[in-house]
Amino acid sequence: MNTAITGLQWGDEGKGKIVDLLTSEHDLVVRYNGGANAGHTVVIGDQKYALHLMPSGILSPEITCVIGNGVVVDPGKLTEEIDSLESRSIETGGRLFISDRAHVVLDYHKMIDGALEDFLAGGSSGESIGTTRRGIGPAYADKILRAPALRMGDLLDDSVLSDRIGIACALHSEQLASLGSPERPDQERIIDDCRRWRDRLGSAITDTTYLLHDAVRDGRRLLFEGANACLLDIDHGTYPFVTSSNCSALGIPAGTGLPPRTVDRVIGIMKAYSTRVGSGPFPTELHDATGDRIRERGREYGTTTGRPRRCGWLDLVAVRYTSMLCGTTSVACMLLDVLFGMDEVRICTAYRLPDGSITERFIPDAHRLEGVEPIYQSLPGWDGDLDFDGERSRLPDGARRYLDVIEDILELPIEMVSVGPERTQTLLAAT
Ligand code: GDP
Ligand code: IMO
Ligand code: MG
Repeated sequence: MNTAITGLQWGDEGKGKIVDLLTSEHDLVVRYNGGANAGHTVVIGDQKYALHLMPSGILSPEITCVIGNGVVVDPGKLTEEIDSLESRSIETGGRLFISDRAHVVLDYHKMIDGALEDFLAGGSSGESIGTTRRGIGPAYADKILRAPALRMGDLLDDSVLSDRIGIACALHSEQLASLGSPERPDQERIIDDCRRWRDRLGSAITDTTYLLHDAVRDGRRLLFEGANACLLDIDHGTYPFVTSSNCSALGIPAGTGLPPRTVDRVIGIMKAYSTRVGSGPFPTELHDATGDRIRERGREYGTTTGRPRRCGWLDLVAVRYTSMLCGTTSVACMLLDVLFGMDEVRICTAYRLPDGSITERFIPDAHRLEGVEPIYQSLPGWDGDLDFDGERSRLPDGARRYLDVIEDILELPIEMVSVGPERTQTLLAAT
């Protein structure tokens, strides 16, 4: 059975925890999109790991991890991650494979990311995208433009390296100047960095498309780890306040080289409420004490940038849309513990449009989505401690009712309920 894990909201739903939980049922864990903008947290006992580029499966010793062609790889960040894991006795050698076709994120991409954000913030709308400044957009832009781009396989060839980086530095220096940035890429340093990364990562760079097809043919089980999330998908998210890859499950075939039929089940990960980092519309956002309470109880601060996350009620208009897009077969409902002890909880079931009409359809356009007003179903809150022996049937009545309503509206089973960051704080029975 090959499984896809995909975030159904704006990211940080707890994908890392579920990937870690399901790793034991699989042989390979595969990243197919995004880059070091992702921050996936896994808690194992008293150990906490924050993974950015490395597939979360690396924490399980027997697992092979693949960074597919759809990922943009910052080799500096990846080597830092490898060093950090090795300092905690997690060896990656011989079981990490990186696509030779994955594009490389270099210094100038990060400079342009920052410069463009500053430029937008100083513009007439005063609103930047709020990116992670990890160079994601500019790296994907180079991929699409083709001319100055560098792929992981190019690290292995010195002549390609110097030529491409020379052209890219010249072009990107112009771009930085036109954005009013004083920064300029240092060509020699970038080439030196690339040579160091080649020595460090070269043996892991390979044709992962054949590797993955061979694995499927041998009956090995694949777990696809989505980074970012559906509402940040470049085509289907709240454009332009999105990231630059297809982060829904729709990105799997293109980002790995495997046909769509490879995926047998899609588990959509959603929080019991909503969060968002960065700018863009968020219909159910709470700007009051309830929002602050959720942020503090859920420790809603970014894994990658440390920014406070914007918090709000669960938006099932959005989740119904993203479940539809991904062909979600079941759902994991995360961070339910954060809602314990509230007097009332709310679920958004429809939007009222500026002309007064009501829709149950999501609007994947930032400008139009800004204009909607959420329509809520209100449910009584619940109290109770979190010690219920891992059984969903022993959750407080209000919490069970909340999950039932979600299942009814999504017309999907909630396969897992998470009530804490640790592996053991997960309720599996869908009773
Ligand atoms: P990801 O990007 O989707 O992997 O999610 P992040 O790791 O960025 O953010 C999720 C955060 O919630 C992490 O700090 C997790 O350790 C934590 N977490 C996961 N599941 C639960 C849960 O059920 N309850 C609580 N309180 N925290 C959780
Ligand atoms: P995980 O995998 C939350 C958001 C950024 C910004 C927008 C574009 O941990 O769920 P980018 O740097 O990608 O160009 O930023 O996308 N964003 C995320 N938000 N979780 C993520 O990943 C995100 N990856 C990107 O905050 O609003
Ligand atoms: Mg995250």
